[in-house]
Amino acid sequence: MRKLILCLAGLLALSANARRIVTTLNDGWQFSHVNDGQPLQWQDVRIPHDWAIYGPFNRANDLQDVAVEQNGENEKSLKTGRTGGLPFVGKGIYKTTFNVPDTTGRNITLLFDGAMSNPVIKVNGKEVGRWAYGYNSFYCDATNAVRPGENELVVELENKPQSSRWYPGAGLYRNVHLIDTSKAHVPVWGVNVTTPEVTIEKAKVVIKYGLEGINSDDSILIETRISDANGVVAEGSCKSSEIQLEVPNPSLWSPEKPTLYTAETILSVNGKQVDSLSTRFGVRTLEFRPSEGFFLNGKLTKFRGVCNHHDLGPLGAAVNRSALRHQLEMLQDMGVNAVRTSHNMPAPELVELCDEMGIMLMVEAFDDWGYRPKSPNGYGSVFNEWYERDITNMVRHYRNNPSVVMWSIGNEVPSQWSPEGIKELTQLQNLVHELDSTRLVTCGMDQIRAVLHNGFAAALDIPSFNYKPQFYQQIYDKLPQKLLIGSESASTVSSRGAYHFPAKFGGDHNEVRHPDGQSSSYDVETCSWSNTPDIDFLMDEKPWVLGQFVWTGFDYLGEPSPYDTNAWPNHSSVFGIIDLASLPKDRYFLYRSQWNRESPTLHVLPHWNWPGREGEVTPVFVYTSYPSAELFINGKSQGLRQKNDSTVQNRYRLMWNETRYEPGELKVVAYDSLGSVAAQKIIRTPGKPHHLVATSSRKTLDADGEDLAYITIQVADKEGNLIPTDSRNVTFHVRGAGTFEATANGDPRSLSSFQNPAIELFSGAATAIVRSAKSPGKLIFEVNSPGLKSAKLVIHVKAKP
Ligand code: GAL
Repeated sequence: MRKLILCLAGLLALSANARRIVTTLNDGWQFSHVNDGQPLQWQDVRIPHDWAIYGPFNRANDLQDVAVEQNGENEKSLKTGRTGGLPFVGKGIYKTTFNVPDTTGRNITLLFDGAMSNPVIKVNGKEVGRWAYGYNSFYCDATNAVRPGENELVVELENKPQSSRWYPGAGLYRNVHLIDTSKAHVPVWGVNVTTPEVTIEKAKVVIKYGLEGINSDDSILIETRISDANGVVAEGSCKSSEIQLEVPNPSLWSPEKPTLYTAETILSVNGKQVDSLSTRFGVRTLEFRPSEGFFLNGKLTKFRGVCNHHDLGPLGAAVNRSALRHQLEMLQDMGVNAVRTSHNMPAPELVELCDEMGIMLMVEAFDDWGYRPKSPNGYGSVFNEWYERDITNMVRHYRNNPSVVMWSIGNEVPSQWSPEGIKELTQLQNLVHELDSTRLVTCGMDQIRAVLHNGFAAALDIPSFNYKPQFYQQIYDKLPQKLLIGSESASTVSSRGAYHFPAKFGGDHNEVRHPDGQSSSYDVETCSWSNTPDIDFLMDEKPWVLGQFVWTGFDYLGEPSPYDTNAWPNHSSVFGIIDLASLPKDRYFLYRSQWNRESPTLHVLPHWNWPGREGEVTPVFVYTSYPSAELFINGKSQGLRQKNDSTVQNRYRLMWNETRYEPGELKVVAYDSLGSVAAQKIIRTPGKPHHLVATSSRKTLDADGEDLAYITIQVADKEGNLIPTDSRNVTFHVRGAGTFEATANGDPRSLSSFQNPAIELFSGAATAIVRSAKSPGKLIFEVNSPGLKSAKLVIHVKAKP
């Protein structure tokens, strides 16, 4: 699909010259791997495209022999699956054609939302631009290379080995846009909207326009209209590049009510309309008060955040708005109000969705600066040459997005302990301030002793710390800002539905490796540097802890700690609250019980299907928003538990540590603060596998060829009790108005292809993702497995209104 946006059509009578034509180049591309400078074999692809997600997985892919200093390692060891075990290393080339009706008096820009990595852009054989960092958006002026009619666009890319600590994806994994404007125009990210004065009665809106192709003696006129969902709220014009308007009774952007405004602008030069564009923004105030906390629109607000990597599990790095929306919806239901884009610039689709859905963003730039790079061929090796351009693009790109409440210039950069560290920090922080005076800057730090001692932490607008919440009080006492953020918290490790006995908490850290290569779903295990969620909840109760960003919301490809050293086939992380198949782990409900204030939580674990464990101690944990609950096994009370302060875990979890397994019924009855029964939950030991169950995240999809539904596959007995331990193979069939897109089961060790329409269940479940067609109709999904009754569902694919 080539999406055509004629900005402002219909606002005022626009002359043909004022037309800005933006085309997203999705179809008609070809891709090939490159060897010895030659394309190997061209194949038709659709952009966004991640050439590496098709696999196959292999231990030898980007095998890294390293000592991970951040994890306290002094000696090198073989890190298997560190970057996901997928073939992202190497060179690739993409080509397509595009049409430009007329080049006379026109300016042609190519905008790349991100290209992994080192892209070189050629139009009709002529190089028009290049970039280094795979995560940043950039644009190039192709005016001098284009001709009227058909043009050829070629993008060459190269991913070096040892260039990442996680799976980066490969290729044109984000969108590419062609922007055709008059010579005189507003350049990419040339609009800067600020709201320096906000009261109940009015918001002063200042809009500055960068202009290109204008002569010093030209007279310009800028006409701007601001609208909300109900219509025009302010309008005006000016003869300079800055306009000031007033929005009466502004509706402020917040997670509860993410109101957005749109400024539509027409630029005229010497009396002739030459350009038109629209810019979305929000009105809101941000205040960081020492010792008191973060105030959004004057209201004390805690960050209930998660860190996320950019990959979308089985979809790889190839961005998809619908997949991102699905992730954010799951996180919001858990009570999340913030996301940290660890450790790089996000896709624009994520920022737009956060604007629309009311999720605050900490947008982060880098994982490495120049000093002692963590990956020998990673960004650190080009940092000095590129950081200024990268920071500039990041800030200019997202400065008008109300969801962005803070910039992060780095994560655990080794510069924390370098003698040059503060100088680098100050350069970066000052650069951000020059580009955006409305937001504060942070950096995720882990070397607590060093940064408190050498002034690194004190030099930041807002200090952020990764892990070690037990030191927060000391940090607070020492630092002048009198505020801090948990930029990475927990890093608890767990595999969905995999329970290990005994279920025991360790001390500060509890790193355990089990023979099955999984981490316990009792949420008691960590890495040597990390902790369980409980202590973060406790520290969050301090007003000066602005909140936390849990490592991580979703599992991601690569970094399979604690199974990272010679532990193939482990190749994806188990830090996620939600697994790689987008299925919630038990931990999801622990966070939900604390963070979702609107809807109650009552969740019980483990599952109750333990043939062979009869009579053995099998602890039961309950994650609930209610203060107390009583547990019954086959009708026999196991006692009432009340949240209490005897241990930090007892403050947030209800635990029956001595219960013994007997097959049958596990029932939990929750009581409210007055002692009345508030809710109950029953799980039963299942009988024989009988039928498959398919549950879709969506009943209808848009007929745009982009919309996705996530279908959960499970096995049930005759009565409908789910079988949480089933690991059989299942096969998918999709027909009608859509196609099968990908599958995953959340097992960090599964080497099954994401694109093959069949997979083995993990802990009794797997996910199939289906994509809508471009024309309306019925998408029919069926899942089969020998010996079981299959499941079928119909999703209605509807024309977009
Ligand atoms: C942090 C790091 C993250 C991730 C995490 C795992 O040190 O910033 O990128 O590696 O540890 O716990």
